[in-house]
Amino acid sequence: MGSVLLLLLLLLVAAHPGGGRVQGPQDEQVPGLKGSPPAPVGTSANFQVHISPELVAVPPGDSVWLNCSHNCPLPGRSSLHTQLRQGQKVSRPGWVSYQLLDVRAWSSIVRCLVTCAGETREATARINAYKPPRSVILEPPVLEGRMYTLRCHVTHVFPVGFMVVTLRRKGRVIYFERLERFTGLDLANVTLTHVLRAGPQDLWQPLTCHARLNLDGLIVRSSSAPVMLTFLDWSPVSIALASTSIVILMGILLAVGAAYLRKYLVTQLPA
Ligand SMILES: *[C@@H]1O[C@H](CO)[C@@H](O)[C@H](O)[C@H]1NC(C)=O
Ligand SMILES: *[C@@H]1O[C@H](CO)[C@@H](O)[C@H](O)[C@H]1NC(C)=O
Repeated sequence: MGSVLLLLLLLLVAAHPGGGRVQGPQDEQVPGLKGSPPAPVGTSANFQVHISPELVAVPPGDSVWLNCSHNCPLPGRSSLHTQLRQGQKVSRPGWVSYQLLDVRAWSSIVRCLVTCAGETREATARINAYKPPRSVILEPPVLEGRMYTLRCHVTHVFPVGFMVVTLRRKGRVIYFERLERFTGLDLANVTLTHVLRAGPQDLWQPLTCHARLNLDGLIVRSSSAPVMLTFLDWSPVSIALASTSIVILMGILLAVGAAYLRKYLVTQLPA
C-alpha cells in the first residue's frame, strides 16, 4: 500500500516538476528514492557516548550505578562490558543506568558500547574498591627481658596487599613491612609485631605506626597516636605477678588483723 502511494507520488513529481508543493510524510523519503545523499540522520559525526561517573571508589562488597548516555537520535543499542557482576538496569531514551554488584576487585574497567546508525562508540569508567583503615593503633611497648615488643593494629582496611605498614621512632623508619602476600577480597584487620632492642637513648622517644595504601598512584595514609618507650613498661606477666603479690599481701594483712581482733575480743570479754 505504502509503496503504491510512493510510486504514485513519484509519477506525480515527474509529471509536474513544480509539484514540490505536495506535502506528506512521504516527502522526506523521495530524495532518497531518487538516489541523492540521505538526509542527515545527522549526528553520526558528533555521535557521543558518555559514562558517569568516570571514576568511582567504593568499599569492597558495595554495589554501584553507572549511567551510560548518548546523543544518538535513533534508539541506540547499548551494552556494558565488565568482569563485574551486573544487577538491575534502567533504560530510557538516551541513557541506560547499570547496576554493578559486590565490587571486590580493587580496580576494574567498565566499557559502555553504543551503536548508532551502524557506528559503535564507547566510553570507559574505572571502579576502585578500597577502604582506608578505620584505625591504626600502636599498643604501649611491652618490655620482656631487654627487648620491647611493639604491636600495631590496622583495622578495617582494603586492599591489604597494597599496604605498607611502617614503625617510626622520632619520625625515622625503624621497621616496615609490605603486605603483598595478603590477597583477601574482604575488609581485614592486620597486626604487625616487631621486637626492638632499645637502649637508654631510646627512652622518651615517640614511636608511631603508619599505614600507607598505594593504589596505582592514589596514596592513602593513616597513622597511630605516638607512644613512648619507658623502662616503666611492664609486661602483662609482671603486672599479673605484681597484682598477685598485692593480693597475697592484702590476705596476710587481713589475717593479721583478724588475729588481733580475736585476741582483743578475747581479752575484753568478761570472764
Ligand atoms: C543518566 O544520564 C542522563 C544524561 O545525563 C540523565 O538525563 C539521566 O537522568 C541520568 N539517569 C540517572 C538514573 O541518573
Ligand atoms: C576487626 O577488628 C574490629 C575491632 O577493632 C572487629 O570489630 C572486627 O570484627 C574485626 N574484623 C575482622 C575481619 O577480624
